[in-house]
Amino acid sequence: MPLLLNDNSVELWVVDLRASGVKLEHAFQLLSDDELRRAEQFRFPVHRDRFVFARASLRRILAGYLGMEPAELVFTYSEFGKPRLVTPRTDICFNASRSHETALVGCSRGREIGVDIERIRRDLEVDDLAQRFFSAKENERLRTVPPQLRHLAFLRCWTCKEAFVKAARMGLSLDPVKIDVSVALANSSDPGAGTEEFTVNGWSLFAFGTAAVEGHLCALVTKGTGLSVRVQPWSG
Ligand SMILES: CC(C)(COP(=O)(O)OP(=O)(O)OC[C@H]1O[C@@H](n2cnc3c(N)ncnc32)[C@H](O)[C@@H]1OP(=O)(O)O)[C@@H](O)C(=O)NCCC(=O)NCCS
Repeated sequence: MPLLLNDNSVELWVVDLRASGVKLEHAFQLLSDDELRRAEQFRFPVHRDRFVFARASLRRILAGYLGMEPAELVFTYSEFGKPRLVTPRTDICFNASRSHETALVGCSRGREIGVDIERIRRDLEVDDLAQRFFSAKENERLRTVPPQLRHLAFLRCWTCKEAFVKAARMGLSLDPVKIDVSVALANSSDPGAGTEEFTVNGWSLFAFGTAAVEGHLCALVTKGTGLSVRVQPWSG
């Protein structure tokens, strides 16, 4: 059955990247030559296989909206590496992120979109990273979070920031210190909590807690407000 995507909806698909055997072999067959060349550059097979399965899943999801075969889709890349579809011509926008064994694919119609997913981990040099990448206000709010919750607050801010960078298509050319998403750190008592929605300069920012994807924090940034957002598992 074809997938449907309305103008005011954003769909987020959660993809389990633990694939092997025939499932993985089939994923390889869906990729283009340039994607396969990229896959060959991974040093460890486990990272290569996750990349391949994530790309194949992205192709399947987009093909589901477009009523095409996944292998027929052709991507092109912005100056900073953001992929978009060139064949077929479509108003569907998408963005993807991977963390360990999970990928997140966001799809919208006619509005730029950026997503990020990070697996929750405690072995992060939070203070050092925040000094390097966070704005003064973000650092200020982070310091108010109790130490045992600081890694969650850090990841919440990080995913929101990455989603902004990715929505804006600029990649590493944007100075992360100049992007301020300190609003996402207002709830310092439970930074891994449920979904919160914010509006920043005409962009909608959604920060998702662990209820959306177990063991992970995620964020979505997209143009416009009043959107309906659905997070769901991709079963292939
Ligand atoms: C690509 C980038 C935007 C995010 O990379 P990342 O967090 O390592 O990786 P993610 O898994 O979240 O996202 C990778 C996907 O984003 C997409 N992507 C690549 N370049 C992109 C860009 N310029 N803009 C938006 N999306 C991009 C691709 O689909 C890519 O998937 P692929 O590896 O299968 O091709 C990275 O180049 C970057 O610039 N990161 C900012 C780094 C930084 O300074 N962060 C500090 C906090 S903002």
